[in-house]
Amino acid sequence: MIALLKCFYKSYQINKIHPKNSFSRKVIFGLNKFKKGNFLNFGVSPRSVQRHNKKHTFRGYTAYAAISLLLALLSLTSAPMQTKAINILGIETSCDETAAAVVADGRIVKSSIVASQTKLHEKYGGVVPEIASRAHIEKIYPVITEAMEQAGVNKDNIDAIAVANQPGLTIALVVGVTAAKTLSLAWDKPLIAINHLHAHLQSAMLAEEDLQHRQVSCGLPAVALIVSGGHTCLYDYHSPLEPKLLGSTIDDAAGEAFDKVANILKLSYPGGPSIEKTAKNGNPNAIKFPRSMLGRDSLDFSFSGIKTAVLYYCRGQDMKGEDKVDSMNEQEIADIAASFQAAVVDVLVKKTQRATKKIGAKTILLGGGVAANSTLRETLQKMCDSAVPPKKLLVAPKQYCTDNAVMVASLGYHKFKAKLFADLTLEPKATGL
Ligand code: KG4
Ligand code: ZN
Repeated sequence: MIALLKCFYKSYQINKIHPKNSFSRKVIFGLNKFKKGNFLNFGVSPRSVQRHNKKHTFRGYTAYAAISLLLALLSLTSAPMQTKAINILGIETSCDETAAAVVADGRIVKSSIVASQTKLHEKYGGVVPEIASRAHIEKIYPVITEAMEQAGVNKDNIDAIAVANQPGLTIALVVGVTAAKTLSLAWDKPLIAINHLHAHLQSAMLAEEDLQHRQVSCGLPAVALIVSGGHTCLYDYHSPLEPKLLGSTIDDAAGEAFDKVANILKLSYPGGPSIEKTAKNGNPNAIKFPRSMLGRDSLDFSFSGIKTAVLYYCRGQDMKGEDKVDSMNEQEIADIAASFQAAVVDVLVKKTQRATKKIGAKTILLGGGVAANSTLRETLQKMCDSAVPPKKLLVAPKQYCTDNAVMVASLGYHKFKAKLFADLTLEPKATGL
């Protein structure tokens, strides 16, 4: 294009020097037409071209057309390529966080608002569904409003509304689903149903700058380990839209075990972060807690055994003995926390390794609340580095490990592109892996 322009400019200069050069005159004629805004209006020119230079009508017309085309091309190439970003409003209310976010093109986080209910559930040592639902009703409108304001968007800039509708607590999910359906109807925007666990998986993608490209070029297939308060799942991941379940927990989830053991050790709620903090001063080899592998090839998990083992350790096998925790010193508590954490991480990493071998994975994705745990992240990284050939590990950024709406909006973008829309009959569902 620059070369063409140079030629064009040259002919313009030549015309100034040799005004009799008929071709150059046609060039000027074309340029004048362009200046008058007629540059694509070929229909105007024949007669005026004839008037201008009867002898060279055809050549003049051609020059005029050529310049018009050139300038039209220029106007196309020099205009900034403005492809409109796809803005998705994500809504998340599956458990004890009311969250909304606006994400552009699946990865540019324009806003992320999370109203945590931790304080409300703290004294019960776990999430109380009725309390969670009521708190979602109170918070949903302010949280969505804040997410829109922080993103600097209004309804006209939103392309679709994505909402987590499964799995989770139905009386919590229903709040987000109802809000999303209402906005979809009122704003006349598409509605997108999101599986909360697949959204956790998507949050691992937010770690990468150019993930789609990398995945296609070197990262697939991938194994995804999703470890949260309600679920522990391994997926065979080929695309954001179709993760295939390889295994899941048959009883307690990993996060649930962290919460329950923290309760036994009288540590603060939520249990995961407090166990991790306490474990930092403990010896992970102090107590050999059981590692349930469920058979040679199993990709399922079981964490109720280890939770019971900690309970027996603290209260005696028959549960009739006194609760020893009150009389334990800080080091003893730290040793239990570290040994428990080591056992859980050991199982999670070994199962992920099994799944990696089974599907020949090149990449491992890690997401969910428990993915915030540093020991898990580091141990999985070591496993990836020592594998032959080494595996790539993508871990969700810490702020997107626990429940949030960025992951919902991000996955919503992929469903939007695939035109996978829900309708207003969408219902919340407790299950669905
Ligand atoms: O994904 P999430 O926010 O909610 C569910 O979908 O369940 O996960 C919450 C779980 C809780 O059980 C919490 O104790 C655990 O994630 N968690 C952790 C850590 N941070 C949160 N577990 C271990 N280490 C952590 N640092
Ligand atoms: Zn979650």
